[in-house]
Amino acid sequence: MRKKIVAGNWKMNMDYAEGISLFSEIVNMVRDEQKGEQIAVICAPFIHLNSLSKLGGTTVYIGAQNCHQNESGAYTGETSAKMVKSVGCAYVIIGHSERRQYFAENDQLLAEKTTAALKNNLTPIFCIGETLDERNNGNYFEILKSQITAGTFDLSAEDFSKLVIAYEPVWAIGTGLTASSEQAQEVHAFIRQEIASKYGTEVAENTTILYGGSCNPKNAADLFAQKDIDGGLIGGASLKSRDFVDIVKAFNS
Ligand code: 13P
Repeated sequence: MRKKIVAGNWKMNMDYAEGISLFSEIVNMVRDEQKGEQIAVICAPFIHLNSLSKLGGTTVYIGAQNCHQNESGAYTGETSAKMVKSVGCAYVIIGHSERRQYFAENDQLLAEKTTAALKNNLTPIFCIGETLDERNNGNYFEILKSQITAGTFDLSAEDFSKLVIAYEPVWAIGTGLTASSEQAQEVHAFIRQEIASKYGTEVAENTTILYGGSCNPKNAADLFAQKDIDGGLIGGASLKSRDFVDIVKAFNS
């Protein structure tokens, strides 16, 4: 049985007090209202990780949004996977399209970050996604295949099995344009097929593949009902406790 996960990505939002307040609301609501086996995760800016992992316990897990590929050293402004793990995080987002676009993170670097995260017992949420041009040109399957291949297919089957994959079409992020359930399912099935070709059916069937891009309480249930969609990576809607928790609960509706 693959894990069902709803992960919030706060991006660069929430100062310290705001973060504690929002997170406390989320933990209380998830504790009181969540039914079923789905896992809730909040991926917050680095300043929050230590406090939130103490508040979250096993009700809401904590993740970082990035990590450095090296363990320590003269890399001013960076935070390593080892450091992220040391404050109690369980997850780290790797390869978000905003990191690829604004911080020039390429496939080779993302493969190194993934390896660093695994070495430190963090679960990478490895993101792939095509731009609007790539979708309109019709070559999005090729793009997605090259991103997942270059970023993760050098891993052993044992290591690959520890990953969560997130499909986030760049044209759907923060735009209010959601991929339709059919569009998302088509891509998720394709990703699972690529994983099966590389690692075999058992690994593919056990890989959690999340959808991200303007996911909200209204469209979540329909997306999550698709055969190959195992949850969501949620941006804007994770900044409102009610919306985020309703998305967590969407598995049960
Ligand atoms: P939105 O949900 O705001 O579109 O963001 C999605 C995302 O980038 C999550 O990582």
